[in-house]
Amino acid sequence: MNDLLPPDSAKWNHVEHVARQVFESFGYREIRTPIVEYTPLFVRSIGEATDVVEKEMYTFTDRDESSITMRPEGTAGAVRALLEHGVLQKQPVTRWYYSGPMFRRERAQKGRYRQFYQMGVEAYGVAEPTIDAEQVAMLHALYLRLGITGLDVIVNSVGGPDDRPAYREALVAYFTPHRAELCPDCQRRLERNPLRILDCKVAGCRALVAGAPSILDHLSPASLAQFAGFRAALEALGVPHQVDARLVRGLDYYTGPIFELKATGGDLGAQNTLGAGGRYDRLVEELGGPPTPAVGFAFGVERVVLTMPQPAEAYEQGAEIFVVAQGDAPRLYALRLGHQLRGDGYRVDLDHRGGTFKSQFKRADKSGAKVVLVIGDAELTSGQIMVKDMATGEQRPVPAAEATATLVKLLR
Ligand code: HAM
Repeated sequence: MNDLLPPDSAKWNHVEHVARQVFESFGYREIRTPIVEYTPLFVRSIGEATDVVEKEMYTFTDRDESSITMRPEGTAGAVRALLEHGVLQKQPVTRWYYSGPMFRRERAQKGRYRQFYQMGVEAYGVAEPTIDAEQVAMLHALYLRLGITGLDVIVNSVGGPDDRPAYREALVAYFTPHRAELCPDCQRRLERNPLRILDCKVAGCRALVAGAPSILDHLSPASLAQFAGFRAALEALGVPHQVDARLVRGLDYYTGPIFELKATGGDLGAQNTLGAGGRYDRLVEELGGPPTPAVGFAFGVERVVLTMPQPAEAYEQGAEIFVVAQGDAPRLYALRLGHQLRGDGYRVDLDHRGGTFKSQFKRADKSGAKVVLVIGDAELTSGQIMVKDMATGEQRPVPAAEATATLVKLLR
């Protein structure tokens, strides 16, 4: 779990600001849900036999003996809120986004943390896979706007509930003769949730997975058509992508096209999945709502920040104006002037500690301000402010009444 300090916070703010703009331009509106939910919500939605539920949730007993869990992801809470507030009755197509900390007790490493931040979107009520493709294009466009260029878009379909039993059988038939070669986790998965084996990171299991039957050979005609529609829309949107028939997700609720966006450059190593999601048409119903198609994704803010090429300092907005003053009356005058200028929309700094003109100028220089205003006893008496343009070094007295006009010229 990390602290976030300046200048990194400026880079984070930029990501969040641009993401909000992009999501809202596609018609998504913000929700904020609690950081804890009752544990069964996550168990039922993410799936009992997933790593997240089996090993990674921060679960504890509340004072009234109920079990609550710090959210490991945002989709389950979004669906809970959707149903709790009867949103679909008023708004059959609902598009939401969210932003906030998630908690998974993973083995921490670069790009993988126990408290991490996600921004995500969910769309409810649209079965057409063009919206899935639009979400991928939206995430892709967001990354480009953040300066991330090396990107792989990987897609697959995990099929719907009608396709899954046949594929499950095919996997069991394939892996059972190799049972002894599987890691202990995968031996359990073989019984409980064989699809999860495809996601195992253990070398021995990966070698076996390479030869496993492909989900794409087990899709029903309806699922195949949905996947084809998804890919055709991606092409129409100009998003280059690759199909990886072995791609699976770590959460059980997916029922159709899934996708991951990976960074090709950078040094995130195995944690290079910047964002991921897919279709989950059964979850709303499983949590007690009406049958409702749904699709969404989330991206990890830390990973995106680590991949953006510009250093954090580049996103910091320093002061535009620095006010330098010496003497009791000038310092009070400077205090008031700075306050007024901030009211006019300028970013203004001054050194409350006072000190010599020289030391204050040093500070002004370091602040990166474009303009320094100088106020001493002489300036107060003459009613003039010394305005120094830091770019040219030019310095001239300006009547106080005209100071604002001069600043507009220099700064705006
Ligand atoms: P997820 O693949 O588990 O999906 O997480 C989405 C993204 O969150 C990952 O691609 C990664 O960037 C980031 N992430 C996940 N775990 C960590 C971690 N421990 N440290 C840092 N970053 C992490 C979901 O969470 C789904 N709820 C996405 C979704 C929304 N599907 C449909 N709607």
